[in-house]
Amino acid sequence: MYRSTIAGIGFYVPENVYTNSDLTRFMETSDEWIRERTGIQERRFADRYGETTTTMAIKAAEAALERAGTTAQDIDFIIFATLTPDYYFPGCGVLLQREMGMREIGALDVRNQCSGFVYALSVADQFIKTGMYKNILVVGSEKHSFAMDFATRSRNVSVIFGDGAGAAVLQPTEEPGKGILSTHLHSDGADAELLAMYYPGAHANKWLSDAKPFPEQELGGLFLTAEQLESGAALPYMDGPAVFKKAVVKFPEVIKEALAANGLSEKDIDMLIPHQANLRISQYVQKLLGLSDSQVFNNIQKYGNTTAASIPIALSEAWESGKIKSGDLICLAAFGSGFTWASALIRW
Ligand code: UT7
Repeated sequence: MYRSTIAGIGFYVPENVYTNSDLTRFMETSDEWIRERTGIQERRFADRYGETTTTMAIKAAEAALERAGTTAQDIDFIIFATLTPDYYFPGCGVLLQREMGMREIGALDVRNQCSGFVYALSVADQFIKTGMYKNILVVGSEKHSFAMDFATRSRNVSVIFGDGAGAAVLQPTEEPGKGILSTHLHSDGADAELLAMYYPGAHANKWLSDAKPFPEQELGGLFLTAEQLESGAALPYMDGPAVFKKAVVKFPEVIKEALAANGLSEKDIDMLIPHQANLRISQYVQKLLGLSDSQVFNNIQKYGNTTAASIPIALSEAWESGKIKSGDLICLAAFGSGFTWASALIRW
């Protein structure tokens, strides 16, 4: 049986840099608060009308394809992870297929938020291992700046997230010991509403504690109402402390699960690339696992939390800066909305 290998990886971040101080123009916050609580110093925001989740993904994909020595025409399957799609439907996968002039291949959209890229990588891995596909493009891309609220009421969310994209080309390899060794995926929907965007949605307030009476009409009109827009229910909601508490348990758990499944231990990790949720979460996880600074890669300081894009951006940047070498053991780990969490262990 083949293993999958990451044959090429690339990333793109928009040119517009917004520092923490820049955000104080829109809301009551401070550079000090954001740095202390999150480690973030600045983030990139896409050009408001010129760039979309798909256009950023294309730039990351082009870099990944070039490094893999392949072309868009060679791609057999697309997996696109995002929580900020260009359209509510169809997903960004088909837009990428169209804009990159790809063949009429399958395009799968993944909605697992911060864990989206690792989930997507796991799906791609299965298709490669079975021999079904030989070149899979896996993408994580986000344009948070378009959907977020930059008023003080949403400051706990809007200071954290940034825009960007990362992509990887997966191919089969027969080289012994090389490639994706394992992936582990988990979910627990008990707290699904703690990190969520409720509208547009078909839940009709069923799961929300502040459920409002339905409009009088018999059918329709509940997916997105003017009232929901006005009340802020169509904005991302996050109970930050609750997410933080769960994240610092599930990150180490899923990393240890990956190591145990491969008969390895923490000291074998050459580079842990955690989803860039919050520098304090990454540092806490590093401490719990007893990892040195050189074993963990963080770049949230420059880009904020880019959700599904954060792992491929960090992986690309670590690789570009020579921090990942052939034969290294790389661990990817993610946790986020759902809750969902996941890990992948890769022999580079
Ligand atoms: O990638 C997806 C997964 N998401 C995460 O992993 C996020 C996990 N959670 C976190 O990273 C942290 O909980 C946050 C960074 C979101 C918040 O940090 P915190 O230390 O948990 O702060 P908090 O929410 O408990 O808020 C503390 C105070 C509050 O004021 P009071 O009630 O103590 O007066 C907030 O209103 O900080 C206030 N606050 C702010 N102040 C200045 C919240 N956001 C801001 C802000 N600037 N941007």
